[in-house]
Amino acid sequence: MNSVTVSSSASTAAVEDRVRELLDRMTLTEKVGQMSQVNVGDGPVQDFLVDDIRAGRIGSVLNTVDANVVNELQRLALEESRLGIPLLVGRDVIHGFRTVMPIPLGQAATWNPDIVQDAARVAAQEAAACGVNWTFAPMIDVARDPRWGRIAESLGEDPLLTAVLGAAMVRGFQGDTPGGQQSVAACGKHFAGYGAAESGRDYAATNIPENELRNVHLRPFKAAIDAGLCSVMTSFSDVDGVPATANSFLLRTVLREEWGFRGIAVSDWDSVKQLNVHGLTASDRDAAFEAASAGLDMEMHGDAFRHHLEDLVEQGILSPTQIDSAVANILRIKFSLGLFDRPLTTAKPEDPTTSEEALAIARESALQSIVMLKNEHRVLPLSPESTRSIALIGPLANAARDQLGTWIFDGDPALSVTPVQAIQSLLGPAATIHHVPALETTRSRQITGLDEALFAARQADVVVAFVGEEAILSGEAHSRADIHLPGAQPDLLRQLKACGKPVVAVVMAGRPLVLTDVVDDVDAILFAAHPGTMGGPAIADLLFGIESPSGKLPATFPRMVGQVPIYYAQKNTGRPPTPSSIVLIDDIDADADQLSTGMTAYHLDAGFTPLFPFGFGLSYADFEYTNLRLSAAEMRTDESLDISVDLTNTGDCVATEVVQLYVRDLVGSVTRPVRELKAFRRVRLAPGERNRVTFCLHADDLAFFDRNNRLAVEAGEFHVWVGGSSAAELKGAFVLRESEPA
Ligand code: GLC
Repeated sequence: MNSVTVSSSASTAAVEDRVRELLDRMTLTEKVGQMSQVNVGDGPVQDFLVDDIRAGRIGSVLNTVDANVVNELQRLALEESRLGIPLLVGRDVIHGFRTVMPIPLGQAATWNPDIVQDAARVAAQEAAACGVNWTFAPMIDVARDPRWGRIAESLGEDPLLTAVLGAAMVRGFQGDTPGGQQSVAACGKHFAGYGAAESGRDYAATNIPENELRNVHLRPFKAAIDAGLCSVMTSFSDVDGVPATANSFLLRTVLREEWGFRGIAVSDWDSVKQLNVHGLTASDRDAAFEAASAGLDMEMHGDAFRHHLEDLVEQGILSPTQIDSAVANILRIKFSLGLFDRPLTTAKPEDPTTSEEALAIARESALQSIVMLKNEHRVLPLSPESTRSIALIGPLANAARDQLGTWIFDGDPALSVTPVQAIQSLLGPAATIHHVPALETTRSRQITGLDEALFAARQADVVVAFVGEEAILSGEAHSRADIHLPGAQPDLLRQLKACGKPVVAVVMAGRPLVLTDVVDDVDAILFAAHPGTMGGPAIADLLFGIESPSGKLPATFPRMVGQVPIYYAQKNTGRPPTPSSIVLIDDIDADADQLSTGMTAYHLDAGFTPLFPFGFGLSYADFEYTNLRLSAAEMRTDESLDISVDLTNTGDCVATEVVQLYVRDLVGSVTRPVRELKAFRRVRLAPGERNRVTFCLHADDLAFFDRNNRLAVEAGEFHVWVGGSSAAELKGAFVLRESEPA
């Protein structure tokens, strides 16, 4: 789709003419109607909905995916309202529609914008067939707190990875042709800074200094808008005292004045009236005024706009210009989507809900999303030939619904292929497969199936334990203060280890977990962020070496939850810790002097490093990084620099490595992170194959918001690292100098 902000001037002029012409014919009631989105839900269409659509008092609906209902509502709007303005039909199509892809946190672990875009395209095709023309995705909140349930929906902790993959989702959802049967409008959410909720408790307040907001949280939204994003959704959260839904700095200063965004700003569910609950306003009327005057265009599932905006304008309190601007944004998207020309879906209820292509993309996405965190003594891959007896233990080995993860309103668990099913299919009838759930749920505190599980383990050549979190333990309003494996799962793993057989843990979850208490009880760990419909075959392919793991962590795994927030792109502080500068709690002498433990930034009982860092992931191959070279030792602020490295597969199988480039700006007008991801690339190599990987780093890639919160490139010394994680050691340096005066 051509973006409403950057499409060709001809289409923009034509659209603007149509917007202006229509706006001039609209009554105030019809304008406020466009600013109102109403929940349809399941069941028969309520009479008020029919009446209000006929009267032009509704511009958008959400939460109906019955093609017949959608087409009837669109027909009412087109044929029985005065101006025939089609409806925006919204739905949360977050990581798939019927065919479910890995949760976004898992898709982020692929570090592959192409597969992420393909997954979004498939989701758009399936949703558009039901009449949906607007998805409330991508969720591009930078998430650095694994306690937060919505980290599951995020693309992780890094602004660049989130920006690149979020933009890929926008392109996948919106496609190349406006409003075709194969695409839906995208919605970047939640604008902005939602991931900084205090203590990771969902909906909690955020306090984000403007410099941090601009350097971290806003970057993915700007990238998504540059990719043609049609809309943004405000976050529920209080942003430095002014909830996002009524925050004019976000909605007007940044979104419109700085970025020139001309799409829709929609509230979150009833978040306009929640301004009263926040304590920003004392009535729905005030809430409607605050939100509309701050620059909110549409109210999702609330009635503050519907009940109060007309009167606020007629009383001269709210400017009619404000209303016209909001309605113009909404009409602009409707015209750009082609809704006036093709509003109805032609799909039939009996149409297939998935396709071979969709399932293949779901399988490839799941395969690339799984991260190998441990592989002691190369216990993996298992041999399909010599594995004659295998014990599949745990509550997530055969959980068709839970492997889909959160936010799958329309996902079909009947399409799921579970690990038990996939392993049975891969090994065939000759192998003995003993599946024991052992626990009723991942939260169970009693191992009701312990005896059977231990018996199966003793009989088997290898034990694969499927542990983690059920889908309900992450997602909206599902934050956890303790992020260990829930319930008796750690005890189950310990008891399985005691059976003396190799134990592989497959951890399915919606967040990074604290695995410190179990990491020594298993020989290998595969982390599968709820891998979706085809999670089973993907896990089986990796377990048995059909493919090598290639996933890399998009978010840090802490040793203890008390370390949170812990992320790689941290600031250096004035007293950075080093391994030699710290004394851990068990090593402190009884009469230790106050200054004896090293006066640096670490926890006595946890140190200062994570269990597994951002960007980390193992492979069945071994990759060697050598000959890091920079094309110059200096670069001007108007130039670029090539940074290259030799990557060799020194292993014995074909495998893919995600090569990552990190940079540190040693001195800035504000302090800069100790490392920042600047580029990455998936590279597939055969055994013994060597490839020279080159990144072109432009000075503009080093830009950041400076002490005056202006985007700037500052001369100075930089370090670079290239490797397979944020802990990369291969290091180089260059100096950035001011460009020569013209
Ligand atoms: C929810 C979520 C938002 C979602 C919306 C519609 O509360 O915060 O992400 O798109 O409501 O379901």
